[in-house]
Amino acid sequence: MKAAILDKKNQDLEIKDVPVPEIGENEVLVKVKYAGVNPLDNMIVREEVKLITPYKYPLVMGNEFSGVVEKTGSNVADFNEGDRVYARMPLDKIGAFAEYVAIDKDAIAIIPDYLDFDEAACVPLTALTAIQAFELMDPSEGESIFISGGTGSLGAMAIPIAKNLGLHVITSGSERNRERVMDLGVSEFIDYKTQDYSEMLSDVDYVLDTLGENELEKEFRILKSGGVLVSLKALPNGEFADRMGLSAVKKILFKVAGGKLDKMASKKNQKYYFLFVESNGRQLDSISKINIVPSIDEVFELDDVNKALQKVDAGGSKGKTIIRI
Ligand SMILES: NC(=O)c1ccc[n+]([C@@H]2O[C@H](COP(=O)([O-])OP(=O)(O)OC[C@H]3O[C@@H](n4cnc5c(N)ncnc54)[C@H](OP(=O)(O)O)[C@@H]3O)[C@@H](O)[C@H]2O)c1
Repeated sequence: MKAAILDKKNQDLEIKDVPVPEIGENEVLVKVKYAGVNPLDNMIVREEVKLITPYKYPLVMGNEFSGVVEKTGSNVADFNEGDRVYARMPLDKIGAFAEYVAIDKDAIAIIPDYLDFDEAACVPLTALTAIQAFELMDPSEGESIFISGGTGSLGAMAIPIAKNLGLHVITSGSERNRERVMDLGVSEFIDYKTQDYSEMLSDVDYVLDTLGENELEKEFRILKSGGVLVSLKALPNGEFADRMGLSAVKKILFKVAGGKLDKMASKKNQKYYFLFVESNGRQLDSISKINIVPSIDEVFELDDVNKALQKVDAGGSKGKTIIRI
């Protein structure tokens, strides 16, 4: 089968012929239709997430896909040949930029009827990120959330999921995407190029941060006392290392690295979490109850995978970049 392979840090991916993966007893073999491209893929190429999830080379790249079940392992009861499925690949076994994936049954979910394969490939990684962030926040109906940079592919999933939880959603992002996110149910939109959210907002119940460490001081400032901030981009802390069951060495490392953010949070009795999205078929299944409207920016062929990665890296997205396999 054809697959996009990373042979070395910071190199372009190469399209190579590799064997179709064998499935284990708990796995299914899926013929991939589309794969979603995320900022995470470029971070893996640059080895920026090495401490959280180390990979060996050669590495078949790609973190999420939509496709059709071709074969099931002997312990798989809930999926059958021909099922339309999608998933975020498990952290220890990525490889969605390929014609086939062998994936654990617990990572996949049936694609809701209302999503085509191209739309479905936009969903898993960002939808799971939002679901896992809201699990950490544990919000109640009527509370407020500020999602920074909600005009990107994460916002496209996080906003409708937040609305479904009954939250008042405020987001920042680029002006040209204002209408698209307002249509998703945003109550307040802040153009980050001309407005400063830290002067406009206060006492927000939750912050979902996509921008990283440099914004955290401002984001904690707009958060109410006792509020919760979940970052997708800043530093991991000790709590993250414990939750992920990382090694003792990494626990010490992350406790030190994220210590200053815990300290920043503790000033107003706030809570700081770092999140790194994991696969979860059961959580993904819950999406079928929400009307998600993915917006596709551009579709690339597998041979053009490097162009797709460059496009995501350049920013300015008008929706999701996907690869047709
Ligand atoms: N930790 C995790 O598990 C996890 C999971 C998912 C995503 N993430 C991270 O979350 C971030 C967002 O992901 P994404 O897929 O949504 O990326 P994306 O599609 O590239 O979108 C990013 C959005 O943020 C906007 N933006 C850029 N700078 C901004 C600023 N200063 N203030 C407000 N908005 C700004 C961008 O606008 P422009 O049009 O001006 O560029 C763009 O609309 C990435 O860093 C990604 O790595 C992490």
